[in-house]
Parts: sequence; C-alpha cells; structure tokens
Amino acid sequence: MADLRTEYLGLKLKNPVLASSSGITGTVGGVKQCAEAGVGAVVLQSLFEEQINAELGGGQGSSGSAFPDEARAYLQNLARSHGPDDYLSLIAGARDAVDVPVIASINCTSADRWTDYAARIEAAGADALELNIALMPLSFDERAEDIEAHLLSIVRAVRESTRLPIAVKVGPYFTALPRVVTGLREAGVNGVVLFNRFYQLDIDPVALKPVPGNRFSTSDELPLPLRWMSILSPRIACDFSLSTGVHTGLDAAKAIVAGARVVQIASALYVRKVRGATEIISELSDWLDTNGYADVAAARGRFAESEHYRPEELERLQYVKALTAR
Ligand SMILES: Cc1cc2nc3c(=O)[nH]c(=O)nc-3n(C[C@H](O)[C@H](O)[C@H](O)COP(=O)(O)O)c2cc1C
Repeated sequence: MADLRTEYLGLKLKNPVLASSSGITGTVGGVKQCAEAGVGAVVLQSLFEEQINAELGGGQGSSGSAFPDEARAYLQNLARSHGPDDYLSLIAGARDAVDVPVIASINCTSADRWTDYAARIEAAGADALELNIALMPLSFDERAEDIEAHLLSIVRAVRESTRLPIAVKVGPYFTALPRVVTGLREAGVNGVVLFNRFYQLDIDPVALKPVPGNRFSTSDELPLPLRWMSILSPRIACDFSLSTGVHTGLDAAKAIVAGARVVQIASALYVRKVRGATEIISELSDWLDTNGYADVAAARGRFAESEHYRPEELERLQYVKALTAR
C-alpha cells in the first residue's frame, strides 16, 4: 500500500486529505468526526476579524472591510454568542480531542486591531494558522496594486504577531496571481491555499432578489485550481494546498500531480457525509498503488513538472485549438 504520509506547513501528516474550514469543523464533535474519518489534519471553521474587534469594543474597526453596517451588527451579535474566547476553547478542545494537527482559521480583510489575537491562538494550542483573506473590491477607484499591497500588509502584520506556521487562502480573482503568490512567500507565509470559494450569487428574476447560489462545489470546479497549482507549484517554493472541487480520490490525485502537498475538502464532507473522507483517502491510496507510486511524494508535481505541460508555450495553442475544434 502506498505511503500517504506528507508534510504541510512543517507538520507531519498521516495523509494529504484535510478537512477544510466549514461549519463541520466549528465544533469539537465535528472535528472528532473528521479525525475518526481519517483526515490528515483539520482546519477549524473561521473566526471573523469583526468578531474579534467587536469584543475589543470601540470604533468600527477595519478599514477596507467588505462589511457594511448591517453585516457588522450581525457579526457583533455573533461575537456575543460565539466570541473569540469560545474560539480559543474550540482550539483547545479540538487539540485535546484529536491526534491530528489542528489549524485555526481567521477570516479577515484588514490588519486593524485584531492581529494580537494570533498570539492567543498559538497559546491555545493551534498547530498552524490559516488566513482567509476575503478581499472583495467593489470600489471603482481601487487599483489592483493597491489591493495586492493591502493583502501583503495584512500578512506581514500577522507574521509579526505569531511564530505559528501561516497559510493564506486566496481567491482566484487576481490580475497577476504569480506575482501575488510570490509576494506572499516573501512576506513569510509557509503555505498558500488555492482557492477560496466565494459566495455564489444567484438571482430570483421575478422577486428581483439575490438568492444564494450553489452552496457546495462539484468536481467541475476543479480545473481552475488545477491550472494554477500546475503553474505556481514548480516555480514557488511554498507548501501548496488545493481547495475547491475535490470530491473523489481521483480529484485528489489530480491535485497532487499538479503539485499540491495537500487537498482540502469541505463540500464533499457535506455531500458524501464526513465518512466520505475515509472513502476519498482510500480511493487516493488505490490510485497511487494502481499507478505505481510508492508514496505521495513520488506523485507530487509529476504533471506540473512534466514535459507535456509548458503553459507559457502551449496554453495559447490549446486555447485556440479548443475554440476552433469542429
Ligand atoms: C458550509 C460551508 C462553510 C464554510 N465555512 C468556511 C469558513 O468558515 N472559513 C473558510 O475559510 N472557508 C469556509 N468554507 C469554504 C471551504 O473551506 C472551501 O474553501 C470551499 O468550500 C471550497 O472547497 P470545496 O470545494 O471542498 O467545498 C466553507 C464552505 C462551506 C461549504
């Protein structure tokens, strides 16, 4: 049987399938279920920066925040019921309950005020910190370089406030992603998660109201992170994690040959239930065996580094061929 062990953010994992941040990993019970299903590590549900700042009290907090007053009030209420102290209890409880690494997660849009909290996350026993930096630029004046500089300023501030390994989860919507990820690496992050999956807008065209779109991904969403994983992983020395669209062991295998150290699954835990993680791990193991890989490391990056994948030379050609095929 193939050896599934891998390292991610300096942590030794028994396999490369992680429970991604979601409602399931927001309780100690859910974390335990994921660990019992065999995942290599668990990323806890995110705490929002606004929840931390609400506890600190005072001003409105984050400049550049994506949240209008109504949302901020919602988050302040949330902070009262599930506050930063409860989050520290979740970290400590999860740490005691399972023997796989526990990665805390903060959803933030600024480095205002909240960053001291990172030291408390470390003290509570988290093994690493994932930052979900959910910038949603809507201003018509903001330039791409301002947004990128803002992203890096957040990362630098958090880097200074904790010794924990840091992974940054970004969305795919950057004009120059290679430069952004290089900047993240230079700012001292240990890992990058490709990608965050933002709220999907759908529209009720009769009521003229927004309605939530697909809450869960499908494997059809895998090509976008696969492409970027294949482009970035051979060129940037950083631990890459693939998130979005991993639902089967075959999806996980594709992510690994594209260069991912680990994959993260959220929708699959809802769609296939938490036990789906066990199946995905075993499907991945079977795939490695069938294809003659003794361990995960032997398969990692095999596509991205192969002579068949030269995106600079071939992507335009493939694009033209796909569009002109009859
Ligand atoms: C119900 C639900 C809750 C989620 N909550 C969080 C969260 O708190 N923090 C976060 O970074 N991502 C959150 N996500 C995003 C997932 O971690 C993941 O990045 C995204 O769903 C894409 O992966 P998937 O295709 O495996 O679902 C959530 C996803 C779902 C479906």
